[in-house]
Amino acid sequence: MSDFTLKNGKILQYRKLQQGDEKLLSTFNAALSEKSRTLFMPHGYNIETLAKVINRAESGEDAAFIALDKERIAAYWFLWWFNTPFPVLGIGILDEFHGLGLGKQLIQHLINLAETGGCEAIELTTALDNEAGQALYEKTGFKRIGTVENISGDGKITEEIHMVYSIKPGIIPPPRKHDSPV
Ligand SMILES: CC(C)(COP(=O)(O)OP(=O)(O)OC[C@H]1O[C@@H](n2cnc3c(N)ncnc32)[C@H](O)[C@@H]1OP(=O)(O)O)[C@@H](O)C(=O)NCCC(=O)NCCS
Repeated sequence: MSDFTLKNGKILQYRKLQQGDEKLLSTFNAALSEKSRTLFMPHGYNIETLAKVINRAESGEDAAFIALDKERIAAYWFLWWFNTPFPVLGIGILDEFHGLGLGKQLIQHLINLAETGGCEAIELTTALDNEAGQALYEKTGFKRIGTVENISGDGKITEEIHMVYSIKPGIIPPPRKHDSPV
């Protein structure tokens, strides 16, 4: 296991998502505030969907990680389609761990992973009113390239900001459907 140190000195260990983490993930989702859950609903949390999420992480199709605070997940972050040139980034942190510099470290972790993994760019979408998300992404080098229709994990379709972090200079990812791989 590796770890992240927060601005308050707390240390959180993290590891790859693995078989057996289904319950931890659904408890994490339920523990998010309503606002955070609305902003971060990457996929459904029923058993069938979670099994697919974990299978993809274990096969290397996605790169997915959890940071642990004792027996619970404090943060869940990933690159979907990690085995392609244009992975899609997602990040969710329990509310009590917001504003402690964790988000920045998680994004940097995924950028390093994509760079060493040979990816050409990282894509993401974020809600029009997600000020914290937009600040985080802009501070870590993502650029706004427009808005797109995003299909969230509960099936809701909303207009979101589309952002890209270019690894290969000048690269713009080809158009895609903005939904989950599961
Ligand atoms: C968005 C989120 C991941 C940010 O993570 P975080 O750990 O709170 O962010 P950090 O503490 O690393 O802050 C990163 C930068 O963003 C800025 N920031 C954080 N929250 C902010 C806010 N509410 N408003 C404006 N700027 C903010 C910080 O000032 C910091 O910049 P600095 O290093 O120059 O001071 C977290 O709030 C979260 O999980 N929210 C709910 C789920 C969500 O929105 N996920 C993203 C969906 S696209």
